[in-house]
Amino acid sequence: MNPSLIIAKKRDGHALTREEITGFVHGYTRGQIPDYQMSALAMAIFLRGMSVQETADLTDAMLQSGVWLVWSRRDRPLVDKHSTGGIGDKTSLILAPLLAACGLAVPMISGRGLGATGGTLDKLEAIPGFRTNLPLAEMESTVERVGCVITGASAEIVPADRKLYALRDVTATVPSIPLITASIMSKKLAESLDALALDVKFGSGAFMKSLADARLLARSLVDTGRRMGVRTSALVTDMNQPLGRMAGNLVEVHESLWTLEGRGPADLWDCTRELAAELLVLAGRAGDHQSARRLLDEKLASGAALAKFREMVAAQGGDLSRLPPMPLGSEVPAGRAGFVLSIHTEQLGHAIIELGGGRKVMSDTLDHAAGLEMCVRIGDRVEIGQSLVRLFGPADQLAAVTSQVAAAFAFSDQLVPPLPLIVERID
Ligand code: URA
Repeated sequence: MNPSLIIAKKRDGHALTREEITGFVHGYTRGQIPDYQMSALAMAIFLRGMSVQETADLTDAMLQSGVWLVWSRRDRPLVDKHSTGGIGDKTSLILAPLLAACGLAVPMISGRGLGATGGTLDKLEAIPGFRTNLPLAEMESTVERVGCVITGASAEIVPADRKLYALRDVTATVPSIPLITASIMSKKLAESLDALALDVKFGSGAFMKSLADARLLARSLVDTGRRMGVRTSALVTDMNQPLGRMAGNLVEVHESLWTLEGRGPADLWDCTRELAAELLVLAGRAGDHQSARRLLDEKLASGAALAKFREMVAAQGGDLSRLPPMPLGSEVPAGRAGFVLSIHTEQLGHAIIELGGGRKVMSDTLDHAAGLEMCVRIGDRVEIGQSLVRLFGPADQLAAVTSQVAAAFAFSDQLVPPLPLIVERID
């Protein structure tokens, strides 16, 4: 195989064969193909795109670069959910135990914050003692015993993505639909799932800013999942404002607990319940979405989902009795009256990073108590001086962040309609 001929083929807009893709990815993972040739191929893919078949072949080649989970017992459907990320997106913390309480098995491999978006592992680490680096064997035994687990990817899972993602990050090749698809799907397929639900977010706090791009990504993810034998569907959901009220780490754990106790914000429960309903239907545990929603409401109301969450946390070493209380907040007042027209949600994510709740460089340690609470949503009427946001963080950072957060809001004198949360379902 001559790597430069494969690069030239893609550069000129031709489809690559399965053998060419596999040879390239495996050569790169083993160190036989250097970074500069992989960068050139990634840029050619970024510029020329890939067909559904090529994207599936790339996903499979990345998956085959490492190990995948082998389940000794398959007496329950294995399911998972993946979100493309946003601010305040804590659905995983609620969905995994909720579905385990419905009798499904949820082996969730999650990530850390990326750019301005939060990460599930960072949130769970706000719980004293919670371990997010379970070895594969412990991950498997926890799923078999408890029904769910949320942990990080070990080094043996999809090593090609680990290497390629770092390269894409510094070669301006992250926002490519086939590359994102292969990166996400290879990691999820390594869980050996029966069904997968995707939450593809669009808007000011999402990776995909436009609904059109989110639709394309959702279609690509669903097509690839199906082509690889996993029942897959996607919801395209709004991220023009944070999901729920809380964004950060500790504060999102508190909000997840409130939601599991049945007193969380409506948008967070709606988003979680719709994704969970997708999985119950895909896994054949509910005949339709309506009966799936009824089952989920029942598991919430009975306390079964909350009990599962407590069981999962304990199994992973976490101690909820030592969870720090909600921190004290500092208000960001509205500088004018009006209807909330828009929120630059990514800017809120950057404000959380400034407060210490996210990383500027990989080696940063987090202040888990840092974050914010949304006091208003798009469409709300506010008066001058009314709180827009409550900030949690060190006193010396609050002044700078307060003006940054206030600047993220735009107002209108006209009535602004609330935004729909779940915009489309793609299957
Ligand atoms: N998340 C991933 O895991 N990979 C991407 O390429 C983008 C988002």
